[in-house]
Amino acid sequence: MESLIKQWDGEKVIIQYDQPSGAWIFMAIHSTRLGPPVSGGTRMRSYPNAQAALQDAFKLSAAMTNKLALAGVGHGGGKVVIAAPPDLDRAERTRLLQSYGTLLQQLSGLFLTGPDMGTSPDDMDIIAETGAPYVFSRTPAAGGAGDSGPTTATGVLAGMRVTCERLYGDASLAGKRVLVQGAGSVGRALMKLLQNEGANVLFSDIDEIAMQRVRTELGLEFIPPESLFDTVCDIFSPCAIGGILDENAIARLKCQAVVGAANNQLVDPHDAMRLQERDILYAPDMVVNIGGLLGITGIEAAGWSWEEAHERVSSTVTRTLGQVYDLAAAAGLDTHAAALRIARERLAQGKLEQSVI
Ligand code: PHE
Repeated sequence: MESLIKQWDGEKVIIQYDQPSGAWIFMAIHSTRLGPPVSGGTRMRSYPNAQAALQDAFKLSAAMTNKLALAGVGHGGGKVVIAAPPDLDRAERTRLLQSYGTLLQQLSGLFLTGPDMGTSPDDMDIIAETGAPYVFSRTPAAGGAGDSGPTTATGVLAGMRVTCERLYGDASLAGKRVLVQGAGSVGRALMKLLQNEGANVLFSDIDEIAMQRVRTELGLEFIPPESLFDTVCDIFSPCAIGGILDENAIARLKCQAVVGAANNQLVDPHDAMRLQERDILYAPDMVVNIGGLLGITGIEAAGWSWEEAHERVSSTVTRTLGQVYDLAAAAGLDTHAAALRIARERLAQGKLEQSVI
């Protein structure tokens, strides 16, 4: 762990070990160039070991810095990863989340959080018992805006429209075959939006219960996880775990574009070039997945209506992705490199004149 921390390019890591459960809480504060505050979701899952969890926190926090800079949100980037044992019971889990809330409270607003993979609005309610007002996306019953899946999905849909416009000269998704990986809160919301747009939606998930739910609720065709990369489609949309696009996966893909919400989809930055070489247009995740944070913080901290939140998310992603595609074409960069260049320029300028929230 020591060498991992020394090599990291972020600013500060706060580590709390929860003795009773054996869980680790890693808070990675990657950058305060545009903040404070520092914003980032709270991810909770089990990891093979503590180092793997810390590494995930580091990578995810850097993605937050970039995505906030790209969208023009005047917050720094960070992430919290809670590495919890898989057999944690309900009472222990609640106690752990409350203990984490106390940490947020002690930081007095330096760090603002919301849900991420493995945490829900119900969990945000528990964290907020001790961590309010620094916790976003609590349930409506507790005074929060609720699930961040719908506004995240709105941003991804906007990204798909921009991508279709570039590829086919028409932004419409009607009749397009779209494969969504992940039937979680974002994936399900996205599938519904796509159905409404008249797209031909396919989906995949490793979880049997999530799979049955989508089959009965939406009646969509299921693609087994092992066939994910070999399925012919127009757009492949990763909305689950990151690190899925490596050299092998990219060689198998049978899509024209990749546009999804999962954080850090590429294993390596070079994978963006590999996608380009295969003529697959890649919408960088850090550009299209801002909608959870932007929509929910806009509603809760800036008083936006839901309608306004969806509109702002949509226009932000449309504008930013357009800039990224334009720069990539003009400068001969892959789209990931173009997004990074824009983010770095904003970060080099320091504090934003105007933040979108
Ligand atoms: N999970 C979101 C992301 O990765 C973070 C977030 C969601 C933060 C909702 C606040 C509110 O971007």
